[in-house]
Amino acid sequence: MAEIGKDIAKAKALLEQGKLVAIPTETVYGLAGNALDITAVTKVFAAKDRPFFDPLIVHVPDADSVKNYVEEIPQKASALMKEFWPGPITFLLNKKSIIPDLVTSGLDRVGVRCPNHELTHELLKSLSFPLAAPSANPFSYVSPTRPEHVNEQLGTKIDYILDGGECNIGIESTIVGFENDKVILYRAGGMSVEKMELIIGDVEVRVQSFSNPQAPGQLQSHYAPRKILKVGNIEKLIEEHKHIKIGVLSFQKKYASDSIEMQIVLSSSGDPNEAAQKLFSALRELDKSAAEIILTEEVPNTGLGRAINDRLRRASA
Ligand code: TXA
Ligand code: MG
Repeated sequence: MAEIGKDIAKAKALLEQGKLVAIPTETVYGLAGNALDITAVTKVFAAKDRPFFDPLIVHVPDADSVKNYVEEIPQKASALMKEFWPGPITFLLNKKSIIPDLVTSGLDRVGVRCPNHELTHELLKSLSFPLAAPSANPFSYVSPTRPEHVNEQLGTKIDYILDGGECNIGIESTIVGFENDKVILYRAGGMSVEKMELIIGDVEVRVQSFSNPQAPGQLQSHYAPRKILKVGNIEKLIEEHKHIKIGVLSFQKKYASDSIEMQIVLSSSGDPNEAAQKLFSALRELDKSAAEIILTEEVPNTGLGRAINDRLRRASA
């Protein structure tokens, strides 16, 4: 198992040696390596068993440093960075050659993000290079929101886990790109479309292109527990599966049935932010339980509800 601690100097030293460190962010834990060092980046892909066609996000300490890594920052990107960074938005921008092609899987654009977490912010400021960091889970599994989640699955493959406690947003960053003056949403995430639109006007949603994804996070089956997960009307689903042990993941309501083995309510007050924060640890708990199937329902599709529904649909695919 990897050591878990709050020692930023240790994390820095390991990263400078080309080693891997799990880092806390406001969204999910990342598995970080020096983004400018292809040996370190190769280790990141290997530890996750991630295919090389799935590019990595590059994490930076502030908006100012972005110009070192990208050709140009569109005006609407600057406006969003100014308003929401540090925070859960990743920008796809044309990369400079200093970013290795391995990081972007050969694509022209690199994803850049400035995470909002004090420990990781201090770490990024202390380094002379940015950090390539995908979520710290095996490829296509649910993302980790606590240091123990990282340790359970990747503990033998990484050198240190920087302990930032539980992630307070709990769902991955929103990914946007730019076409002329248009803002395109590629992944719904921790920053809602509504909030972005207040700053830059209309956002075009393009998260449904499952077949030829711009971002492999758009792959239909992703963010998935090992057990079968079904999304729909929970009462009906319980009726259909009452002969086996059922795990229920509901938004607000509790359900009653003798077949229910474990039940988790995401937010009894109906708050989508609370639901997002709990979502991935709830999926992990249900996956570990004796339940044979996980039954769940969509949440209202506004604010972070859009990202929650997106993850549930993919987890069920
Ligand atoms: O909140 C987050 O974004 C977390 C934390 C650790 O920062 N990171 C994260 O990384 O979720 P990952 O690798 O699990 O998901 C990033 C998604 C992937 O679906 C990847 O395909 C897409 O972003 N992506 C990254 N760079 C891209 C690029 N240059 N072009 C298109 N898609 C890209
Ligand atoms: Mg991921």
